[in-house]
Amino acid sequence: MSKYQIAVIVGSLRKDSFNRKLASAIVKLAPAEFSFTQVKIDDLPLYNQDDDADQAGSVKRLKNEIKGAQGILFVTPEYNRSIPGVLKNAIDHASRPYGQNAFAGKPAGVLGASVGAVGTALAQQHLRNVLAYLDVPALAQPEAFVHVKDGLFDEAGNIGADSKQFLQNWMDQYVAWVKKHTA
Ligand SMILES: Cc1cc2nc3c(=O)[nH]c(=O)nc-3n(C[C@H](O)[C@H](O)[C@H](O)COP(=O)(O)O)c2cc1C
Repeated sequence: MSKYQIAVIVGSLRKDSFNRKLASAIVKLAPAEFSFTQVKIDDLPLYNQDDDADQAGSVKRLKNEIKGAQGILFVTPEYNRSIPGVLKNAIDHASRPYGQNAFAGKPAGVLGASVGAVGTALAQQHLRNVLAYLDVPALAQPEAFVHVKDGLFDEAGNIGADSKQFLQNWMDQYVAWVKKHTA
């Protein structure tokens, strides 16, 4: 088993999501001591505070996966200049009940891909606000606002040559960030 388990949260439920492809491709740039699992968020109910004392099985599963991880990797699209509702719903679930925030202290990385030229910058900024409140130390630099264009991925689904060096550096910094925050 790898020394560092990372829970990957993708903010898109779309079957052919570019962000999911990015999440699947970038983890191949990490060293073997890191393993990554995309957590499931598409079966979570809409968050309702009335359910805090009796959380759904899917919510308990999500919280356990986050608690069991040494770090979190968020890979999200931007929806209307913010994060998608499905991502916020997952975060709200995992942060509750009050005092039982599964994210507390977990180092995180934030990535996003968009078809728009400056895409995901605002979504990432909103996400960083949420993470700060949840006591999540998020890697600040390098920022990665990935522009979806031909060649971003090669035919095997790996990061294409043009973006490889940039995203390899991002992953190297993320790996160092997780190690720094893991005793
Ligand atoms: C509801 C909605 C809102 C969107 N708003 C933005 C936006 O604010 N900024 C942006 O760059 N792209 C926006 N887009 C386009 C997304 O970047 C694009 O659909 C992208 O492929 C979504 O990511 P995915 O491929 O991982 O599903 C929006 C798309 C949808 C469906």
